[in-house]
Amino acid sequence: MNLLLDPDEPRPAWPDEGRAARGPGAGGPAGDAAAGGAGAAGAGDGEACGQAAAPARQVVRVSARPVDQTAGGRPWRPVSLDELPLRDDLRGRSPYGAPQLDVPVRLNTNENPYGPSPELVDALGKAATLAATEANRYPDREAEALRADLAYYLTPDAGFGLHTSQLWAANGSNEVLQQLLQAFGGPGRRALGFEPSYSMHRLIALATATEWVAELRAADYTLDPVAAADAVRRHTPSLVFLCSPNNPSGTSLPLEVIKAVCVAAEEIGGCMVVVDEAYAEFRRQGVPSALTLLPEQPKLVVTRTMSKAFALAGARVGYLAAHPAVVDALQLVRLPYHLSSFTQAVARTALAHADELLGTVEAVKAQRDRIVDELPTLGVRVVPSDANFVLFGEFSDQHAVWQGLLDRGVLVRDLSLPGWLRVTAGRPNETDAFLDALAEVLTQRPGLLAVSGGAPAHHGG
Ligand SMILES: Cc1ncc(COP(=O)(O)O)c(C=O)c1O
Repeated sequence: MNLLLDPDEPRPAWPDEGRAARGPGAGGPAGDAAAGGAGAAGAGDGEACGQAAAPARQVVRVSARPVDQTAGGRPWRPVSLDELPLRDDLRGRSPYGAPQLDVPVRLNTNENPYGPSPELVDALGKAATLAATEANRYPDREAEALRADLAYYLTPDAGFGLHTSQLWAANGSNEVLQQLLQAFGGPGRRALGFEPSYSMHRLIALATATEWVAELRAADYTLDPVAAADAVRRHTPSLVFLCSPNNPSGTSLPLEVIKAVCVAAEEIGGCMVVVDEAYAEFRRQGVPSALTLLPEQPKLVVTRTMSKAFALAGARVGYLAAHPAVVDALQLVRLPYHLSSFTQAVARTALAHADELLGTVEAVKAQRDRIVDELPTLGVRVVPSDANFVLFGEFSDQHAVWQGLLDRGVLVRDLSLPGWLRVTAGRPNETDAFLDALAEVLTQRPGLLAVSGGAPAHHGG
């Protein structure tokens, strides 16, 4: 049972209060609730680390059930996390996820700022209502109809027709990534990534007891095909993760890099190549998708999501395209009925309204390009982006800039990448607010702007 309580509420004292060890996020239901809230917030865009939440403004999800503090409330014996038989490799870790703060301008999790139109809200509601009439039945275990719709949707990007058997869907692309690691990784196996990149690749690898090895991208966040292929040969992983456009840099990978990695993966034998294309719809004209390589590369997997361009982060729908044998492999690890009938119905309705939903992509790209163009006028450097966000810097203390923006009601992402912050492209008025707030912060504290030349330098993920 997941007991979520409001941590601000007082609770009854436990009989042996104070005697039990209190590990991080532990200590009676109230402590667990805080940890549970952070965990629930964890999906976001999943990245790390090191971000101090603004005091007292953290949004905590609470249950609607009132807390019975008097009659009939049975006190629970306290237990700390340290006392539970947790896997050794999970000890000392904290749940990951961006802070969910209640501020006017939220540009930290790469969401699409445009909600569905009233007509689409109505259509989504009707689809959910229809699904409800059969809620006594398990959903279509293989999500055949949704996968057929996704195959149809991907066809223009791939340049060839895809079949249902080449598509797989799950609760967000994070679950797709997890299933890939469950099927192809695991104890005694290794996954390779090129950082800084989407930190959930590493974290899901660790959660599935897969060893994680990372090579660094170049200082400008590009990846050299020879170096990437060489890393595959040296580390002999079971999976390689490539992210294009890359989170947090926004940089796309040329197909040459993906091809070189696939060749090296063939050479070492038994290695899957996963290209995470969560932000593919935002890429600039002429940038190809790894989908185009699928027919020649049986061990290539391209993952996508409906959380970003489709503005459907709340519905939790991710998917992949790959050889049917890969889809067969994932069926061995997926839970039965993992994708609810409501999720399937909502996703299919959204796909049927793809034109409306994807209509917002151009507006978001316009704001991204505006941020890229305007930040240099403040003396701030940017990394060219094919995604719906921009990495910007360089600051002597990026966390102070993050805090300065937050104090002005603008939440961006501090990924603990020294000197750099990431901002999501939102609505025009949100770009205004972000640019104004940053100008103010830098005017008040010009020393925050680090003076350096050349390409952006990073120091790992
Ligand atoms: C690169 C990348 N991949 C995958 C995801 C996961 O997306 P979701 O689980 O919402 O589909 C994200 C989320 O931010 C991401 O940035």
